[in-house]
This record gives sequence, structure tokens and C-alpha cells, in this order.
Amino acid sequence: MVIEKPFGRDLSSAKALNRVVQQVCQEQQVYRIDHYLGKETVQNLMVFRFANAIFEPLWNRQFVDHVQITVAETVGVEDRAGYYESSGALRDMLQNHLMQIFCLTAMEPPNSLDADSIRTEKMKVLQATRLADLQNLENSAIRGQYSAGWMKGKPVPGYHQEPGVAPNSTTPTYVAMKFAIDNWRWQGVPFYLRTGKRLPKKVSEIAIQFREVPLLIFQSAAQQTAPNVLTMRVHPNEGISLRFEAKMPGPDLRTRTVDMDFSYGSSFGVTSSDAYDRLLIDCMLGDQTLFTRSDEVEEAWRVVTPALLAWEAPMEQELVPKYEAGTWEPAEAELLINRDGRKWRRL
Ligand code: BG6
Repeated sequence: MVIEKPFGRDLSSAKALNRVVQQVCQEQQVYRIDHYLGKETVQNLMVFRFANAIFEPLWNRQFVDHVQITVAETVGVEDRAGYYESSGALRDMLQNHLMQIFCLTAMEPPNSLDADSIRTEKMKVLQATRLADLQNLENSAIRGQYSAGWMKGKPVPGYHQEPGVAPNSTTPTYVAMKFAIDNWRWQGVPFYLRTGKRLPKKVSEIAIQFREVPLLIFQSAAQQTAPNVLTMRVHPNEGISLRFEAKMPGPDLRTRTVDMDFSYGSSFGVTSSDAYDRLLIDCMLGDQTLFTRSDEVEEAWRVVTPALLAWEAPMEQELVPKYEAGTWEPAEAELLINRDGRKWRRL
């Protein structure tokens, strides 16, 4: 049985759906699709982390300041209002695609490549994850909806003007969340996740920002240095880059931020195959590694439940912040990260 995401629309419906599915199939016969797991770059996350010796020692609270996971889209709701109106960015993207990327970034090394070893590690990291501030939700979860704006020099309609969308719809087309992970590796390291439609660029990436140097000895001439950032680009220009400081040529001791870059296209000379091709072949081969297990899906719903409940409360319905199509996010989402003295990456 192959089931496309989103699996359920909240924790209780996902549990109910799992019960129904388990009445007719064994877990080994169920393939819950999340096509992001079929993307080469997402699979490469594990190879990058666990086939190289030098990154894993840095992959923890001692060296990492914070992590940003972005999946930005330029398209609007297109002709999918029928589905999207009852889903929105949290159910459509964050609870599944972004959280799967999050799991692969944050999980512990699995014992083997066996499907259940990997899924157990993903499950463990989800169990340790919560919205960062459960008392004040606006500190850890922000939604938004696009209003009319401009994309590539052309006017585009707001979400309310899209075909099939209710004129007073409060469906979010953007969502940003700050997660905390209560375990030894990640205590105190925030993970910021954001996704939205009608943003300026189609770009998906994971950015690991490392801590600043303990003492900057290059104090001259208002020296500006940037912290190291390791970026895994899921789309476009799939690859990995490491940002670091280098001395600029010349007699003055001045530094500039530069990148060391790996690109799939130039290293392998092939473009990645379609994620669904890979996943459907795996279904036929009976390999569940790239599919989500029942407990994993439920746990991912559990993490976002406080936001779902709060946003769907009748009084909150009117309060969806707006962002203009073609801009990055509502002001409230800027504040979510700026409050911590950090900034969203401008991609
Ligand atoms: C789908 C969502 O799962 O992923 C869509 O339902 C979204 O709303 C799409 O546009 C994005 O996928 P990709 O592979 O183009 O990043």
C-alpha cells in the first residue's frame, strides 16, 4: 500500500488512519511517501554526515550556533485550491518534507543502513523535539498568507484572489517554526524551519551555522567577519558549500568571506533523477528506507500540534499575518529569529 503525504491532517486523524491501514496491511507492506526523501541531495545528507570523519565531531551544541532549513517556492497555490485550502503550508510542507530533512540533519548515526535502524533514529530525534517556546507560541511558530504583489516584474494575485480560494480564507501559505531538541547533542541549539509559496526564489537548503570564534584577533579597520556556514543545497544547483574567512590579497590584513563549493552537476556530470521514480522503484523492491514509519508520522504531528490547535481556535482565525507575493516573509517571522539576535538567510 502506497500512501501519499500528508498522512492525516493532525495527530488524531493520523492515528486513526494508521489503525485502519494496520487492519489490512502489516507495517512492512505500507509505503508512506514523502518525495523529499527521494531527492538525491536529501539522501546525501546521511552520506555526508556518516561517510566522512571530519564533520561529525562538529555536528553538535559545542560547535553549531543554529540550523536553518528553508524550502521556498515561487509558485502560488496554482490550480490546487481544492486540496490546499484544507491543508496549508504546515500540513502540506512543514510537517512532512521539512521535518524529514530536519530528522536526517539532527539524528544520531544509525547502527546500519537497514530501514528500521534509520527510522528508529529519526523517531528518537522527533521524540526529543518540541516547539521552542510552548508558553508563547509567537516565539516559536508563525504563519503567513501572501497578498497580491510582483514576481519577476509581473503583478500576481494574492491568495484570496486565486481560483477556488474562499474570499475570507485563513489558510497559511507560509510557516516558520523554531524547534528545540532536548538531548545531549542539541540542547540549546535552535533549529529554524521555514517554507512558503510566492517567495522571491525557488530554493531549498539546510544551513548549519557554526559558532563565532572565541576571540577575534583581527580587530583593525572595523573588521567584519562572518561565522562559518555549511550549506547543503537541495535545489537549485544541488551541492554543498562551506563558507569561511580568507585573507584578502594585499599589504593590509583584511578578510573576506569565501566559499568552498561542491556541485553535483560538475562533479558527477549528471542531473538527479526524479524523486518519485526512485521511490516507486523502492516500493517495488520492498525497500522501506525512504518511507516514513507509522510512529514517525504520528510523532511529527505531535511536534506541530500546539501550533495547529492555536491557529485553528476560532478567535485566532482572523489573525493570519500577510506578506506581499515576491517578498520573503511576514514581519512576524523576521521577529521570530531576530529576537534571538539572528537573521534569516537571504538566498
Ligand atoms: C508537494 C506539495 O508535496 O511539494 C506542493 O504538495 C509543493 O505544494 C511541492 O509545491 C514542492 O516540491 P518540490 O519537489 O518542487 O520542492
